[in-house]
Amino acid sequence: MAEGLGHALIVGGTGMLAAAADRLAQDGWRVSHIARHATTFAAGREGQAGFDADYHDEAAFRAALAAALEWGGPPGLGIAWFRTLKLPTPRLMAEAMGAPGASARLFQVVGSRTAHPNHPDRLPRAAAVAEGLPNCLLRQVVLGFRLEPAGARANTNAEISAGVLEAIAADRPLTIVGQVDPWPLDRA
Ligand SMILES: NC(=O)c1ccc[n+]([C@@H]2O[C@H](COP(=O)([O-])OP(=O)(O)OC[C@H]3O[C@@H](n4cnc5c(N)ncnc54)[C@H](OP(=O)(O)O)[C@@H]3O)[C@@H](O)[C@H]2O)c1
Repeated sequence: MAEGLGHALIVGGTGMLAAAADRLAQDGWRVSHIARHATTFAAGREGQAGFDADYHDEAAFRAALAAALEWGGPPGLGIAWFRTLKLPTPRLMAEAMGAPGASARLFQVVGSRTAHPNHPDRLPRAAAVAEGLPNCLLRQVVLGFRLEPAGARANTNAEISAGVLEAIAADRPLTIVGQVDPWPLDRA
């Protein structure tokens, strides 16, 4: 295992992003998780630690965030999978990224509707979570669709984890995992 890549903080990494978290840990990141069942998930996973919190509970999230930073140090990498951004906690995570004088990349994972071609305002609105935070370099990853002869389908967990890892490696501002444009006719 390579050593010393730093701290990667993941919110929502215990489900569809589990394989991505495991890969980052194998690559040498200290990976911390905040999720409701983060402790259970991280138990026995080398290089990973879990801090339980519901992201609807601001106080619990603040406590988990503080414990994660205590464990791993200032995060140089973040992956944020919040089902909704209409909460204070996504901003708290963005504020926790990096350290004075050291910026960090935050990969914000959003659902396909955030990138609906008829609603070009949605991605910039989602990116506002990191507005005014010079240490937090926001990258967005959209979970799109896979078009198949039988119709559109959601990405599998394996495709999502691989897509997020590819987005981190490429370090582009916006990555679409699958596609959203043209929008599938059977996903009104
Ligand atoms: N195309 C799209 O737009 C789109 C969007 C979303 C999902 N999907 C599909 O849906 C599948 C599953 O999606 P999913 O959201 O259920 O993903 P998931 O990653 O399987 O589960 C959600 C993740 O967020 C955490 N989480 C959920 N609620 C939380 C809360 N209140 N507080 C803290 N952490 C919380 C969960 O951990 P804990 O349970 O431990 O809290 C888990 O790590 C994906 O594989 C994908 O195919 C598609």
